[in-house]
Formats: sequence, C-alpha cells, structure tokens
Amino acid sequence: MDTPQPAPVSFDAEGGEALLRTPNSVYALRIGTDGSPRHGYWGTPLDLAEILESRSSAENSFEGSDPTPDELAIETGSRFGVAGLRVRFADGVRGAQWRFAGAEVEGGVLRLRMVDRVYPLALELVYRVRPDSDVIERWVEVSHTGGADEPAIVVERCDSGAWTLPKRSDYRLSHLVGGWAAETQVQRDRLAVAETVLTSRRGLTSHQANPWLALDAGDATEDSGEVWSAALAWSGSWRIAVNRDPGGQVTFSGGFGHEALSFRLTPGERMRTPVFAGLYSPDGFGGASRAWHEYIRTHVLPHPEEDRPVLYNSWEATGFDVDEAGQLELARLAAQSGVELFVLDDGWFGARRDDRAGLGDWTPRAEAFPRGLRPLADEVHRLGMRFGLWVEPEMVNPDSDLYRAHPEWVVHAPTRKATELRNQQMLNVGRPDVAEWMHATLDRLVRENAVDFLKWDANRMVTEAAWPGHPDPDRLWIDHVRNVYEIIDRLRADHPGLRIEGCCGGGGRVDLGMLARVDQVWTSDNTDATDRIGIQAGFGQVYPAAAMVAWVTDSPNPLTSREVPLRFRFHVAMAGALGIGGKLTEWSEKELAEAAELVAEYKEIRPLVQRGIAYRLQGPDAMSGVHYAAPDDSEHVILVWRPTIRFGHWPPPTRLMGLREDATYQEASSGATYSGRLLRERGLELGLPAGDYASRLIRLRRVDGVESR
Ligand code: DGJ
Repeated sequence: MDTPQPAPVSFDAEGGEALLRTPNSVYALRIGTDGSPRHGYWGTPLDLAEILESRSSAENSFEGSDPTPDELAIETGSRFGVAGLRVRFADGVRGAQWRFAGAEVEGGVLRLRMVDRVYPLALELVYRVRPDSDVIERWVEVSHTGGADEPAIVVERCDSGAWTLPKRSDYRLSHLVGGWAAETQVQRDRLAVAETVLTSRRGLTSHQANPWLALDAGDATEDSGEVWSAALAWSGSWRIAVNRDPGGQVTFSGGFGHEALSFRLTPGERMRTPVFAGLYSPDGFGGASRAWHEYIRTHVLPHPEEDRPVLYNSWEATGFDVDEAGQLELARLAAQSGVELFVLDDGWFGARRDDRAGLGDWTPRAEAFPRGLRPLADEVHRLGMRFGLWVEPEMVNPDSDLYRAHPEWVVHAPTRKATELRNQQMLNVGRPDVAEWMHATLDRLVRENAVDFLKWDANRMVTEAAWPGHPDPDRLWIDHVRNVYEIIDRLRADHPGLRIEGCCGGGGRVDLGMLARVDQVWTSDNTDATDRIGIQAGFGQVYPAAAMVAWVTDSPNPLTSREVPLRFRFHVAMAGALGIGGKLTEWSEKELAEAAELVAEYKEIRPLVQRGIAYRLQGPDAMSGVHYAAPDDSEHVILVWRPTIRFGHWPPPTRLMGLREDATYQEASSGATYSGRLLRERGLELGLPAGDYASRLIRLRRVDGVESR
C-alpha cells in the first residue's frame, strides 16, 4: 500500500500556520499578531516543527515587536521597506491595517483573507502549488467591499506577493538585461545591501529587462547549489523591488505597473493581479532552468504537446517589398527545403511601402496582392505548408485611414506633443471600441484568408500616456494588456487551429503572461548566429526551447555584417524552434541542398529540442552548447558552437551531466559506446573542426535497454 503523502497545502487555524509543499521545497507562513501574513520559510523540505523552532525574534524599539518580513507588505505598523500594497482612502489616510478573516484550502490552492479594520477594503493572498512542479504561483485579489455611495479607494501599488529567502551571509542576483537586438543577456552580480529595482516603464514587458530574477548565496553553479527564482506573468509595465538588509535578510516584492501609477478601486470592484511565480531549486542554475521549462511546458503554453513547425519568414528576405509573385517564389523554395509554415511578414497591407504609412489598414495592398491574399494562402497550402501572416494590431501610423477616421483611438495626451517611435502611435486597446474593432479585424483576416498562424508584433512602447475623458486614466496600463490577452484568447477559442507567435520588435514582450496564450515568441531581431548564442542562453534561463523561435538568415548578417557559415547558423538555430529567414532566391543550389538536409535532421531531433530536458554546456575559449535529453533517457542531442578558435587550442572533453552514470550510450556518427559515468566525469571528445565557426550536432542513444528501467 502507498504511504499517504502529506497534503500539498495545509492551514492550521489554531496556530495560524500555513504550509505549502512541492516535490523539492517547502514554503511556510503564519498569521502575525497584527493579522498580517508573515513569512516563515522557503527552501529545502523541513518539518513545520523545525521551521517554527528556528524562528528568530529580534524585537527592538526601532523595528517593533514582529520584524518578520510580510507576505505582502502594507504601509502601517513599523514597516519602512518596500510596500507591496499601497492604498489611500478618501479621508487621506494611507495604508491598510488587517484583521485576518480566515483561510481556505482547496486542492492545491491556499487563500488567506484579510479585511481592513476600518475601511471597506479586503484582500485575498492566494498561493497555488501543483503536484508535479516546484513552482509556487502567487497572486492577490483586492476588493472594495463598500456600498455604492462609498468613495473609491486609490491603489498606488498592488504587488502579487513578496518572497523572502533564508538568511545567508551573501547573496547574488541574476537577471536578464538588454535592448533591441540584444535581448536576454544574463547579468549576475553581488546583490547590493540596498533596494534594487528591476522594472519596465514602457507599457510592454521590454527588451531592457525581463520580469525574471534568480538569487543564490553566491555559491550556486550551473549544476549545484540553491537557487530561488521568480517570474511575473505580465506583459505591460512591471516592477520587482529586491531588498537586502545588512542583517542578511533578502525579500523581493513584485507585480504589475511601474511606480507612480495608480488606479481607483470602486465599490464592489475586485481586481486580480497577475501571477508572480516563485521557484526554489536545489540543483543550481541549470536545475532552476529545467524546472521553469517543465512548468511552462506543462502549465503555461497552450499546446505543449505539439511540435513547433519549421517556419519560413519573409522579413529579412524582402522587407516591405512583398508581392504575390515574390512570395510565391520564396514559398516554393521554402517548401523544397522542408519548411512547414510560410509566414508573410510586414508590408502586405494598406499603403505600407515602408514604416511610414499603412499600419492600421488591414486589407491587402492592391498593387502587391491584386487578387487579395487568398491565392497565396491557397498555393502555400497546396505546397504542403501552413500559411502565416504578420500583424501589428495594437499600432497605427498617423498616415493611415484608421488614424484619419479615429485619431481619438491612440494613447495620447491632447496637450502634449505625441512622440512617434517608428513613425507610429499605439492604439488604446483598453477602450472597448478599439478592442472590438481589433478583434473583428483579426477575426475577419483569419477567416477570409485561411490563416493558420499570426505573427503578432508590437513595435513601440507607451509614451505620453493618457486616456482623455476617462475617470481613472492610469487604467490604460492594465486594461490595454488585459484586452490584448482577451482578444488573443477569443481568437484562439473561435479558431482552434490558429497558432500565434508573440513578437515585439524581437523579444520585447516575452513573459509568462504572453506565453500562456501564444505558442512561441520571436526571440530577437538579431539573427547573427554568434550574438544569438548569448541571447538564446539568456532566454533559456527561464523560457523553454519550444517557445524560442530561431531563424537561419543570410551571411553577411544584415545587422552585424558578420559572415558565418551556413552549418554554424543552422546549428545555433536548431537549438530552438527552427525557422529560415534568408533570401532563398539568392542561395546557391549547394546551400539549398545543405539547408534541406539540416532541416530534415532538425525534424529528427525536434522532439528532443522542444520537449527534452536542457543542460547548458560551457567550455573554454567561448565554446558553449546545449544538451537536450529525452525525458526517458533514450536519446540525446548535443549542439556545440565555438565561434572563434583561440591559440589553436583543442577543446577539452565536455562533461555531460544530463547522462546517467549507470547507463551506456552510443554515439550515432562513430558508433562508439561509452559509459554514462565516463561521459559525466571525463566528458565527451567533441571533435570540433579546427578554425572559427566550428559547430557540431552530436547524437547519443542509450543502448543498455532503456525500457527495462
Ligand atoms: C519587428 C519584428 O521583430 C521583425 O521580425 C519584423 O516582423 C518587423 N518588425 C516588421 O516590421
């Protein structure tokens, strides 16, 4: 008989203690004497009794009687740090003061209910765990419980939760920074004894900072050590404030919106914040990434079981210069190369000859597509591919029929000069009329043109934000994102076969909120294979390879002018959801044949790349790679890249920590067999060719009877 497992979530009403269990972690909290939930513990599994015993009390007249960090800090009591909830009542009083009103446990969800002692404000702090993941999802539901004649409550900040780490003598912060064409660069520094803010004030997730962070005591490596990390499921402005005090206490509080935004909570209204997911991993940065990948594949992405198709995208080949004949020529060559999805990018609509006009007018440009898009879509289908279309529905060029008809639809402050970025303005999708128009337009496009796939782009951020005539104009920052989510959800529900790629001038809107409703994201407008190695490694810290679109484009690369051999470009792009974005009409017969061969090889390894377990590889002299292991250990693929050779060094064998010690593996190309122990301890000779841009794709198969294990 199976021994009964402890419940994943429990709440002891008498002691006010709550405990959440995941396979490899425990999270504990308790209701403080002032009615506020206080942090207990987050880390390796311990018994509740042990956790309670280890609680320290450090009462003094400056910190008050309970200096334990809050699960969501308020502004009353002896609290002087980052407040996750900041409210202002009509009489000018600031800050909530809680009375604990009970807890509910249902399935893997814990809800803690608090009500303000005086004002009509209630808050639920919600936690969710799942049996197969160490990720804990947290969010907050804040409500105005007063009658219709009560004044609104101004909410200046409502984070989804605060996370506290065990005290350690040091802490290190890892996060993702970048810019356009340079997204998701890993930054790893000692955490300052101060408040450190990671944020986007751009109205979109941003290229500059991604809403993910990891903290370790300075001792974690790729393969070992404790790592605490968190990711926010929100695609607008956001803020995560990390506080480290001189006593070794580290807490971070995060949620939607940037500082200085506020909204008015009206009587009867309930606002739910986005999920802020936290993960404790005992297995180093690599282990944390694998746990995120698994969580996202299992619980976030809409169709995790599906293979992402090999796609072709016209952008780098033709720019705005698209027409039916030219696209058909590319489509034929793409089909011959084994492409499964042909995507017509920007330039097909309205008066769109360049980026100065046409955005918003989503009808085919007559001179380029005199018969409309349908004949191209039909031919793409006849060639055996799916048909995809680029749209940028949240944006408008002032030189467009849409803008001329509805200048009031854009995000604008009438008294301010409207900044144009890429000659465009942003539509206020928070407006119901704009949202309705957008849904109807996209729905029509998909229906009329047999569109199987939308590439949903967004190429500017919010400036001069205002919502003239709206009683609560900062709602823009929330309502725009929520309506975009709702429109995508509605389109998907109405068109179950439709697949969507999220894009924002490359990777400017990559987050768990987007990934819950798109199948994949465009990683970066930088398609230079050498630069991509770093961008992809950063992306993979949290997001899985199945969602990471990677194209092979031309050499010299249009952005960097770097010349890179075709095989190297493929080997880098094959680490994600492979696509081709080059001018195939100018590729030689030899290049096309090599491309077709590599696409065929990708299709063989695709289940490993897109659904396998990823181990990052790092070697000397800028050699790096990734190892994807089948979950049942039957097959493995290793992609390694060394852009530059240094001093004629021969790379040392690479240790493959994703193999099992007691198993035997055979390398496909040489037929050689090795023990897992050897490949883990001594490593595999990579056999990289000499010279720059050396890369290899190595396949291993387990040969000692995987089924019997
Ligand atoms: C930005 C995207 O990232 C590119 O791939 C391309 O779609 C252009 N926009 C088109 O304007």
